[in-house]
Amino acid sequence: MNIIIEKTLDRKVFHVINYVYREKMDFIEIGYEYLLGVPEIDNQHKELAKRLNNAIKHCTGKKKDEDKFYYENIDYSIKFLKSHFDLEEKILCKTDYENTEKHKADHKKILDEITKMTEDIEKKKIELNLFYVTAFVKERVMKHIKKHDVAAKKHFIEGNKINEARPSAKTKR
Ligand SMILES: [Fe+2]
Ligand SMILES: [Fe+2]
Repeated sequence: MNIIIEKTLDRKVFHVINYVYREKMDFIEIGYEYLLGVPEIDNQHKELAKRLNNAIKHCTGKKKDEDKFYYENIDYSIKFLKSHFDLEEKILCKTDYENTEKHKADHKKILDEITKMTEDIEKKKIELNLFYVTAFVKERVMKHIKKHDVAAKKHFIEGNKINEARPSAKTKR
């Protein structure tokens, strides 16, 4: 199993997952240090954490139950993540934040990696393992929040004010 996963995932991510696997996965908490001061984004981060924590809870080792949970949740979770990234990009694009393109590029990379993993599972190139899938998504998403979202806090607040002040800007175009 490790060999198959290692071929599919980035080596660095694989080693993190392997470490987590040995140590058991911790639940996520969106504490004060992760709050951006934009309620819509903060609530979406909390929802992402809730969905990941729910997946961690379902890593019971009972393959049938884990597979069922995966297929019931994966499509909506990816859709939710995509709409979250869209919202962040819409807000950042209203500012002159110099790292907006880098931020967007990381969003795209995460979605591409997760999509590739789900396609490989669907095509049976890799075996579905809920623990690995959850650990992988958790690692990528939480790292992004810590590294990219928190760093852009000031710009999210500024962009959100512009967004709220010009609600009709979209329809004017
Ligand atoms: Fe985010
Ligand atoms: Fe982001």
